[in-house]
Amino acid sequence: MTSEKKDLPGWLIDSKLNTFSRKMGKKAVVYGLGETVRGINKRGWTYTSFCSDEPNHFEDKRSLYGAQNFFIIDDEDTVGYFWDTPESVEFDIGFSKIDEIIVRQTSPDVDIYVIEGKNKKEIVSEFRKLTGACYIPPKWAFGYGQSRWSYINEDEVREVVSKYEELGIPIDSVYLDIDYMERFKDFTINEEAFPDFAKFVKEMLDKGIHLVPIIDAGVKVEDGYSVYEEGVKNNYFCKKEDGTDLVAAVWPGKSHFPDFLNDEVRAWFGQKYKLLLDAGIDGFWNDMNEPAIFYTEDHLREVFDEIEEFKGKNLDIHSFFKFKEVVGDIDNNSEDFKRFYHNYDGVKIRHDKVHNLFGFNMTKAAGEAFEKISPDKRILMFSRASYIGMHRYGGVWTGDNKSWWSHLLLSIQQMPALNMCGFLYSGCDIGGFGADCTEDLLLRWLESGLFNPLYRNHAADYTRRQELYSFGETVDFKNIVGLRYALIPYIYSEFMKAALNNGMFYMPLAFEYKDERVNEIEDQLLVGESIMIAPIYKQNASGRYVYLPEDMKMVRFRSAFDYDEEVLQKGDHYVDVALNEVVIFIRPGHALPIAPVSKNVSDIDYSKIEWITYRCDASSYEMYNDDGYSRIN
Ligand code: GLC
Repeated sequence: MTSEKKDLPGWLIDSKLNTFSRKMGKKAVVYGLGETVRGINKRGWTYTSFCSDEPNHFEDKRSLYGAQNFFIIDDEDTVGYFWDTPESVEFDIGFSKIDEIIVRQTSPDVDIYVIEGKNKKEIVSEFRKLTGACYIPPKWAFGYGQSRWSYINEDEVREVVSKYEELGIPIDSVYLDIDYMERFKDFTINEEAFPDFAKFVKEMLDKGIHLVPIIDAGVKVEDGYSVYEEGVKNNYFCKKEDGTDLVAAVWPGKSHFPDFLNDEVRAWFGQKYKLLLDAGIDGFWNDMNEPAIFYTEDHLREVFDEIEEFKGKNLDIHSFFKFKEVVGDIDNNSEDFKRFYHNYDGVKIRHDKVHNLFGFNMTKAAGEAFEKISPDKRILMFSRASYIGMHRYGGVWTGDNKSWWSHLLLSIQQMPALNMCGFLYSGCDIGGFGADCTEDLLLRWLESGLFNPLYRNHAADYTRRQELYSFGETVDFKNIVGLRYALIPYIYSEFMKAALNNGMFYMPLAFEYKDERVNEIEDQLLVGESIMIAPIYKQNASGRYVYLPEDMKMVRFRSAFDYDEEVLQKGDHYVDVALNEVVIFIRPGHALPIAPVSKNVSDIDYSKIEWITYRCDASSYEMYNDDGYSRIN
């Protein structure tokens, strides 16, 4: 249901300042906003919805990569709101005033949707009906994925795969970061490093390994490079005010940005994925599509002029900080987003007015093309930038987190908010992308993310290696990843039910239980219909307090075939969880299927499933399964 801006029930409108505000009761909880910093309850901070290439996910950041303007206020009344605007919008949730939400719009041109329902779950489902069916990846994409920026040639990839084979650790995919390309040019292959790419893709597929290449938003400026030349010739790149193509530097150096908002450009760019699909590739990740800008040619020129003034001067404290600001503000400079334009149905629109739609439309370009190029087979796709509605074409990963315990907790808290917005196929870089990972952090992260649909270990170049064999002893890693595979029948079944019924896979406890305690629980989640998780996210912790909103059966796994069960009463419990253990809780009247550990997703033997049940038998669980690759929606 949409509401006229002049009358948004419960809100005060200041049309001069372009703000909407409403009071929040002391106990009100605000859920949603997708991928942001901070907790499940968004109260107490201000969030700017503006897709940002932000590698430092500090507590004081206001924007990350996504713009997902949907939230639910759970107060005396429970209502959902979707602020549909492609430009920046600020959600001040108890930041300026502790008991007020203030939404500050950049322009008045916004559609506000008021989503009603009898409870939070129903509001989410109404919202999802409005925004469309959720993207469904191939089933192999639920397996373990190994990534690192960067495996630079075939032999490095082979080495990774053979280590996993030798150790018997299940794996389904290896990711190719920017180095597989020829000098970071989209839709090219570095032929020295991968002399016969199609043959290599097949060699890997024969071992059950899917290679997943990255595609970046920026197209390298280089004569003779067909993507560049076609784009220039057909006016497919974003242009500056003077009609010339914007030059922005990203990984390939000077680059142009395809005008993804334009239908023809999307169709053209989307078809480019065919080159890799024809080589046997069946999955991609779209990156740098906020878009990330290291610098624009124009701004760099301005910076050089400006710093000229500082030369030879004795920099006092003020001028020193000014100098730092001029230099430090080069990348993703806000003025740069005002330097270029889109051609939307013949209308010229300045980029910052539609900024949040850029990454969405890059992923839409791929999704639309996949429907044509691969009408029968699902293709894996997830993106870094996103906007509401992109969930129809792909999932997301939460970008460049760090190997920090606080980011392990953040990754747990981001999942339900992403699910609310329809991004069910999502996950974080397990082990952390930036900074050095440790053995205990990686184990705890694999355990806490055990149910993440996207289960990928990814790390930045120059960081400590964090493949599962990098820390010496591998048995615990093998057991945990084995357990993941044993749980895939459940994960896939619950994921698919959520996807097909506009539901959530990960939910805050307060979406199911009514007692007030659950409103404050920030570190436990419901996963599908049967279980609750309460991960360990503190270093050196050998256990934690867990709140049970009802009696539950605790299952302590040391591996998929070594576990014990204990019924615990509703209430608070201190639960020991050793570094090599995963503890989960089964809800009454629910069952959990456990398959034998398999070497990859296609080998999972559904005929040998065992069940852990609590106050029911296995027949009470409705298992969803399918061939794992045919398109469904
Ligand atoms: C960006 C991505 C990261 C990738 C890197 C190099 O930082 O977020 O995942 O490894 O670029 O391509």
